[in-house]
Amino acid sequence: MTGIQASQADVRRAGSWVDGGERSADRRQAGQRPAAGRRSFLGACDLSLDNLRRLLGLADSFAEVSRRAIPRVPALRGKTVATAFFEASTRTRLSFETAAKRLSADVMTFGSAGSSLSKGESLRDTVETLAAMGADLLVVRHASAGVPHQIAGWLHVPVVNAGDGWHEHPSQALLDVYTLATALGQTPADTDLQGSSVAIVGDVRHSRVARSLVAVLATLGANVTLVGPGTLLPVAPESWVGCRISTDLDAVLPEASVVYCLRLQAERGSERDLPTLREYAYRYGMNLDRLAAMPRDGLILHPGPMNIGVEIDRAVAEDPRSLVTTQVANGVAVRMAILYELLGGQDEDLDIPSALEVPGE
Ligand code: CP
Repeated sequence: MTGIQASQADVRRAGSWVDGGERSADRRQAGQRPAAGRRSFLGACDLSLDNLRRLLGLADSFAEVSRRAIPRVPALRGKTVATAFFEASTRTRLSFETAAKRLSADVMTFGSAGSSLSKGESLRDTVETLAAMGADLLVVRHASAGVPHQIAGWLHVPVVNAGDGWHEHPSQALLDVYTLATALGQTPADTDLQGSSVAIVGDVRHSRVARSLVAVLATLGANVTLVGPGTLLPVAPESWVGCRISTDLDAVLPEASVVYCLRLQAERGSERDLPTLREYAYRYGMNLDRLAAMPRDGLILHPGPMNIGVEIDRAVAEDPRSLVTTQVANGVAVRMAILYELLGGQDEDLDIPSALEVPGE
């Protein structure tokens, strides 16, 4: 794999909705709106409450499309969405590709295995090749933090961060709060999680999911507690604004309206920071006894893929209070919203109602 690590300053500078390149900066100075489709979706940390609710509302419209007999609308007809995954994925890549197809976009799929990266081609030349072939938007996953931000600076098409190292996984956070809002009976466009107590449990330190999720939960008013062994909790917890920290899951459960189990990330070295997996499961694994210790209407989430018997037992994952499968299903509608917002939403001739029409009608 061709590795690249953007500087921490680059990562901090990059916001959620970012205009790419110097020409965008010039347009901002001149008071002009960026051209359609020039924004990128790189992180959840700076997503405002208004933008968050707008995306959740849009996702709800596309969830309705997904329930139709023919779940396809012409919103992005003529556009090409490229998925460029330099790290393994099942659900994120497939749901972005499904989302693009349901919006009638063409899909270009790049995976690092079997590509010309193995012949020494650079990351920059690789993504510029995808753009030269007509990609109107790139969905990028990479093992190094900041790579999607770097690519957004190179290309003149929008970039979506589908997970970068330990840094962020913003579309996962959006689908998680969409799932919570609908499970709580809320209208997604008005999501309000004040009064909800969310325990995020496990390998917080290595988790891009946790970083993005904490940001959107804070924006929506939830109380968040990070729970795990000290070796897997954040090194600088003060930068995780507003979160409580605990090493005692059993003490947190009676007050937790939601338990969000994180995957133990062997590929990022989590297991090196633990005495044994068995001890981890004993202290932090969600089992039926722990589920019983939660409030009766408590909910369980997990981003997947799951290490069954480590951070979550099969019986908990399959319990009616588990939203694991719902999260996966909702991922398609949420990613339709992100793609539409970046590629179609700025087009004044393509408002949301027309985007939801059935092709040919
Ligand atoms: N939750 C998540 O990102 O899953 P994948 O790695 O399968 O995409």
